[in-house]
Amino acid sequence: MRVLELYSGIGGMHYAFQESGVNGDCVAAIDINTVANDVYKHNFPHVCLMNRNIQSITADEINSLHIDTILMSPPCQPYTRIGLQKDVSDNRSSSLLYVLELIPKIKTLKYILLENVKGFEKSEMRNAVLKCLNNSEFYYRELILSPCQLGIPNSRHRYYLLAKKKNLKFCFDNATLNFDLPEDILKALTRRKHKFLGERCIQDMESNKDCYVLDKILENVEDVQYLVPSKLLQKRAWVLDLRTSESSGSCCFTKAYGHYAEGTGSVYCPYSEEVIKEAYLAASKYGRETLEALEILEKLKLRYFTPREICRLMCFPEDFTFPDHITKKQKYRLLGNSINTYVVSRLIFLLHTEKQFV
Ligand SMILES: C[S@@+](CC[C@H](N)C(=O)[O-])C[C@H]1O[C@@H](n2cnc3c(N)ncnc32)[C@H](O)[C@@H]1O
Repeated sequence: MRVLELYSGIGGMHYAFQESGVNGDCVAAIDINTVANDVYKHNFPHVCLMNRNIQSITADEINSLHIDTILMSPPCQPYTRIGLQKDVSDNRSSSLLYVLELIPKIKTLKYILLENVKGFEKSEMRNAVLKCLNNSEFYYRELILSPCQLGIPNSRHRYYLLAKKKNLKFCFDNATLNFDLPEDILKALTRRKHKFLGERCIQDMESNKDCYVLDKILENVEDVQYLVPSKLLQKRAWVLDLRTSESSGSCCFTKAYGHYAEGTGSVYCPYSEEVIKEAYLAASKYGRETLEALEILEKLKLRYFTPREICRLMCFPEDFTFPDHITKKQKYRLLGNSINTYVVSRLIFLLHTEKQFV
């Protein structure tokens, strides 16, 4: 494959491609965010990274790259459930509409993978994408998948669209929207373990679908900067999603993780479930927002997962690093916008292979 990575961010698609086992190169990447581009460049100094608006790139420029694959995760705000859902009329949709104009003009294009939030499947934009693919002689498959279906203890339901030129075969037939992959495909996918999963976690996974426990991804954190601040603990302790080293799941980490607590990702407690239960019971006797309750809960040492731990849950390799000038808040933001590289790597494999599974 010769890959063009659109909306490249910190390079999640590039890592997914590397992990997929498919031969080829990421030829070029495009993103408009200079902070994300600093991270991309830091990890992939030799890739042609274009710091520009996708809407400024012409079909001739793309044709000169001789790419056959587009991997892309366009902005999801226009389609998120909690957003205004302005869909195609949102300004942030205009670059994807532009990409749809480019697709029929890219002569060598054979494969497309698009990732977006759950909710995209109900959007006008999805209809526009499918119309473009039909008119450009592409077959497609749509899926909604979460890493926890592939053994990773993190929930991140995402919409995936795999598209392929009509002269190439798809490895599975079901063309309707699948909320779960057919069993045979799931089995085939998880047969190739992620490097990190393979090395450190395999003994925990009795079947392909069991998730490993969080103990495998934890850092030894003494740093107080990760502790949940007292003010937040006092107000929000009862709505936090708490996880221990024995948990085999965690909530989706969003870009607001690390400064808002509710619904932005799980929080870690170094003690057992039992100790947590007892502390909450004791605290609740004093009333939820009292100082006495706070004093008890502070002993639990609740902390945020570190950026490295989130990288691991999103299956970035250990050699992925941030440049020194990237702040903690920026790291959380960039990771929250990124993708689960293992899930996408298996989908790139599915997209590429013509071997029939079902
Ligand atoms: C959902 S994120 C994709 C993240 C990426 N897959 C990763 O692994 O980090 C969307 C990205 O699209 C970029 N973006 C949004 N509109 C753009 C445009 N018109 N031109 C170029 N990049 C754009 C944003 O800067 C952001 O990095």
